[in-house]
Amino acid sequence: MVAERINRISPSQTMKISARAKELQQEGHSVVALSQGEPDFNTPDYICKAAIKAIEDGFHGYTVNTGTIELRNLICQKLREENHLEYTPDQIVVSNGAKQSLGFSILATINPGDEVIIPAPYWVSYPEMVKLAEGKPVVVRTDVTNRYKMTADDLRNALNSKTKMVILCSPSNPTGSCYSREELAELAEVLADYPEVIVLSDEIYEYITYESDHVSIAQAAPELKERTIVVNGFSKGFAMTGWRLGYLAAPAEISEATARIQSQETSAPSSISQKAGEAAYANPRDEIFKMRDEFRNRRDYIVDELSRIDGIKCFSPEGAFYVFPDISAFLNTHTADGEPINSSTDLCMFLIEKHRLALVPGDAFGEPEGLRISFAASMAMLEDGIARLKTGLKELKSTI
Ligand SMILES: Cc1ncc(COP(=O)(O)O)c(C=O)c1O
Repeated sequence: MVAERINRISPSQTMKISARAKELQQEGHSVVALSQGEPDFNTPDYICKAAIKAIEDGFHGYTVNTGTIELRNLICQKLREENHLEYTPDQIVVSNGAKQSLGFSILATINPGDEVIIPAPYWVSYPEMVKLAEGKPVVVRTDVTNRYKMTADDLRNALNSKTKMVILCSPSNPTGSCYSREELAELAEVLADYPEVIVLSDEIYEYITYESDHVSIAQAAPELKERTIVVNGFSKGFAMTGWRLGYLAAPAEISEATARIQSQETSAPSSISQKAGEAAYANPRDEIFKMRDEFRNRRDYIVDELSRIDGIKCFSPEGAFYVFPDISAFLNTHTADGEPINSSTDLCMFLIEKHRLALVPGDAFGEPEGLRISFAASMAMLEDGIARLKTGLKELKSTI
């Protein structure tokens, strides 16, 4: 009954684990879910109030397809002041979340057979979005010793005449790594030899950085701006995942192309969410930096605990709310019941079924020797999660 293209894509692995965690919870089990990709905070009050006001004021109709001019002006102002990037409102397309901006960017630029370079570990949706557009994902494996960041050499080796796009995600989901200005400049230098290649820069975790401010590749390498699509949004930094609000900033030709797709697929993002987005950008960032500081405390706790577990290799992430430890020492083992643990998926299934701890296997992100732990959860949950992880891994260790 369904179309061919559906067979090309798989359902989101992260959502699968979260669904299993929910199922177990509904059956009455106490589950520690550290698999989620969203802040555990509420959206700040001043943003909620702006949305309530929009409803009360009767701001109920469709807006302009690319988003209200007020919001696009605020986005341009934000990009200018915080990222030193100049855009005009016609280069901004506001969407129902960064995910949609990414999907439409790919649909608008990728022809069948075009290659898209995706450094692994990658966010689960990139390869599937590329496949939906009939492009070819070219996954570049990176090294834990380089904090899973793609080097200039890695990029050079993957580029060829069929390459149409490179996707970068900094701060990264799932590793929390951030590319420095120098690293971005090195990648840009390699791309200078490939003037047709577009950069899709996913900056959704921009406000969740712990060591230094986020740098966009369009800022680190201004010569690339004319072929870079910057994607950002409100979900992570402002704890607004359910509001579904994101945007892209791109050369006019690309923003117009994505706007055309959007006009046929969804018309425009929610009018109420856009008013909330305006309040988010029009106000000081104090509240969101409080959330970031709380994430930092949890990061320090979890990294410290993980680094004490024999066999785990783990670096402290500079951004986002995930740690991505290397768990290769626990592969090719078996459980006390004799069940083999040969992959990160086996390990995560064992942890959820036996210890009621939900983590996401590295396999889902193209890195079979890692797994993702989200610290977008309370300290009490993290403590419980670490205790369950230790118990589970001890059982495997004893079988080696
Ligand atoms: C790397 C990355 N990009 C994009 C998104 C999607 O964000 P949004 O909620 O704005 O669609 C996510 C959400 O999980 C993400 O982790």
